[in-house]
Amino acid sequence: MTLNGLASLYEEQRNAPPEILAIAPGRVNLIGEHTDYNDGFVFPAAIDKEVMVAARVAGEITTLSSEQTGPGQPFDARTVSPGEVSGWAAYAAGMAWVLREHTGKAMPNLDGHVASTVPMGSGVSSSAAIEMAFGVAWNRVASLGLDNKVLARLAQRCENEFVGVNCGIMDQMASAMGRDGQAMFLDTRSLDIAYASIPSELLIMICDTKKPRALTDSAYNERRSQCEEAAAVIGVKSLRDATLEDLEAKKSAMTEVVYLRARHVITEDDRSLRFRTALETSDFAEIGTLMKASHESLRDDYEVSCAELDQMAESAWAHPDCVGARMTGAGFGGACVALVKKSGIESFIAEVSAAYTDKTGISGSIMVCQAVDGARCV
Ligand code: GLA
Repeated sequence: MTLNGLASLYEEQRNAPPEILAIAPGRVNLIGEHTDYNDGFVFPAAIDKEVMVAARVAGEITTLSSEQTGPGQPFDARTVSPGEVSGWAAYAAGMAWVLREHTGKAMPNLDGHVASTVPMGSGVSSSAAIEMAFGVAWNRVASLGLDNKVLARLAQRCENEFVGVNCGIMDQMASAMGRDGQAMFLDTRSLDIAYASIPSELLIMICDTKKPRALTDSAYNERRSQCEEAAAVIGVKSLRDATLEDLEAKKSAMTEVVYLRARHVITEDDRSLRFRTALETSDFAEIGTLMKASHESLRDDYEVSCAELDQMAESAWAHPDCVGARMTGAGFGGACVALVKKSGIESFIAEVSAAYTDKTGISGSIMVCQAVDGARCV
């Protein structure tokens, strides 16, 4: 489905053209995993898997339908509060709530239809894309004049306080601030972004394990508190401020698990910085080494990988045209990201798919993606 296709469909369904058309991308993270809630560095790109919204202003109630997931729970955008809406419509309702909290203005109700090409449960941030699509839609309809960085922070607050997931800022910032053809090196403390081109001979591949994610939220929150504990023992505001030497000096004052979690975050920040240089200089060997080390650290120290992600990564590493690969996103299922030489794409897809299915009995899905612009109304 394209945005034009959605607009025509909307007009057929509602007998009136949409007044607003909004689009927001999902994201893939090249490196810097589980560092955003530690004030660290991340390196995502917004991707051409997107959530699209067509809508008209409505009277007393917001009603949303979706091509993929059916009708959402109706709500009154002018008064909606946390706890009132569940299911996928909570991401939209939460944006109406957080925008009212931030601006003091009630958001008008919408009659909307949503279409998405973002695979769900694959770790490419379908929820952040829904939040940002409705964020830019209401920003336009209510003439709020907020910029996308502000909308991203509000979308994170929506997810934390309305949806109830304690995520960091990476996904919303990537969906908000993505740029065509570029990845974005983001300092999650200052929110400064340095855009970086992907070397022209490489493509970003998403290698979806199709393993449904399990227990993600509770394990995610547990990792967060272990990081906070490590920072407190070391005596820094967040792990961004700690070095490996600081950690080693306090090793005996923390449990082995807390030590390992902190070691992942500290080394991952370092890998992200080195990756930035490697990408700039097209140092493919270094890119490969860093992505592999990131996966191993997430697997062994942070313990957020799973057998399927490990198998997908190993299958990718074995391919001669794969420059680098690692799990991406929160983990416990979802996808690996791989940087692959353009000349080898077809054989990469065929061989990695076959090797993965052979070892796991699951048919994964491997797709090319392009870096695209962030959320906007058109
Ligand atoms: C999820 C969260 C992000 C980030 C990643 C892990 O995608 O929403 O904020 O913490 O996990 O890097």
